[in-house]
Amino acid sequence: MKYLTYQQTKVPALGLGTWKAKKGEVYGAVREALHIGYTHVDCAPAYMNETEVGAALKEMTGSGQMRREDLWVTSKLWNNAHLPGDVQPALKKTLTDLQLDSLDLYLIHWPVAFKPEVALPKSGDDYLSLQEAPIIDTWQAMEECVAAGLVRHIGVCNFNIAKLEDLLAKAAIAPMMNQIELHPYLQQQKMLEFCRQRQVLVTAYSPLGSPDRPKGMKKKNEPTLLGHEAIKAIAKKHGVSPAQVLIAWGLQRQTAVIPKSINQVRLRENLEAAELRLEENDLRHIAKLERGYRYVDGAFWEMPGSGYSTKELWDD
Ligand SMILES: NC(=O)c1ccc[n+]([C@@H]2O[C@H](COP(=O)([O-])OP(=O)(O)OC[C@H]3O[C@@H](n4cnc5c(N)ncnc54)[C@H](OP(=O)(O)O)[C@@H]3O)[C@@H](O)[C@H]2O)c1
Repeated sequence: MKYLTYQQTKVPALGLGTWKAKKGEVYGAVREALHIGYTHVDCAPAYMNETEVGAALKEMTGSGQMRREDLWVTSKLWNNAHLPGDVQPALKKTLTDLQLDSLDLYLIHWPVAFKPEVALPKSGDDYLSLQEAPIIDTWQAMEECVAAGLVRHIGVCNFNIAKLEDLLAKAAIAPMMNQIELHPYLQQQKMLEFCRQRQVLVTAYSPLGSPDRPKGMKKKNEPTLLGHEAIKAIAKKHGVSPAQVLIAWGLQRQTAVIPKSINQVRLRENLEAAELRLEENDLRHIAKLERGYRYVDGAFWEMPGSGYSTKELWDD
């Protein structure tokens, strides 16, 4: 298993994504993943499956098949708990659901805030602005969670460089991680350079292009990553699958990569991608695929009166 290093901490570079993994299938998937050698699970209360994930974690650690300290568990603060008084209760609910005493990493899921009673907004009225719920206030409440021993590390998701820079300037505990969409169509070169300079780790989400997203989140004629001819040709040359090429590419760029699968064969296939070494020539071909394309583009937070827009979210 490859690791990313942050100060004295080692983060397993390959993790299991759990978004869209349904009740009834996620328990078996997490158990199987840990059984075959995954040591990193990416969770969130917004995925509505932390109870099942927690049952699988408990089964593996409680039965002695795995030690808690050999497992890296990440979860995220949902957008309706950004007000400082709501942060610790939200984290405690996640800990209860995951059956853990503490998390390895807790992330702000989006730099977007909802009113506390709103799970998913229906209108602009359901949002809080970043003036009403400043990121730094949320962050200080996250820092208190570290002090309380409830999480070892804290970080963010979906932050652009300007937001990260602002947070780094104000934070007492620097964010360990920015979890962002990253794959050959969205290579995030500037972000990677910025994070390298400022010692923030990067996790690549939707590394396979998130083909199982709900229809409502998909655009017409989306480009497919797994079916791209260049990816398929590189896969054929190495005798591996396109998914393995995409995962190996992310790992070779020193990012954590968290492909989601609930399928036994694909779980193993994805894990084995860590053994694949792409050649310079492969990397040059993949570099040419950049097209600034986001599958998870945040347009769902754009509604009249919300105050949030894709323009404001991303630097590009
Ligand atoms: N922080 C954020 O805002 C954010 C946003 C998006 C995602 N994430 C995290 O990142 C994780 C991964 O992203 P994602 O779920 O959007 O998409 P993804 O990992 O890019 O793609 C998942 C899809 O690929 C399929 N798949 C998995 N392995 C495969 C293989 N070897 N060959 C062919 N198909 C394969 C899966 O099907 P099967 O399950 O049937 O195998 C599923 O349909 C999420 O689950 C979540 O944990 C975070």
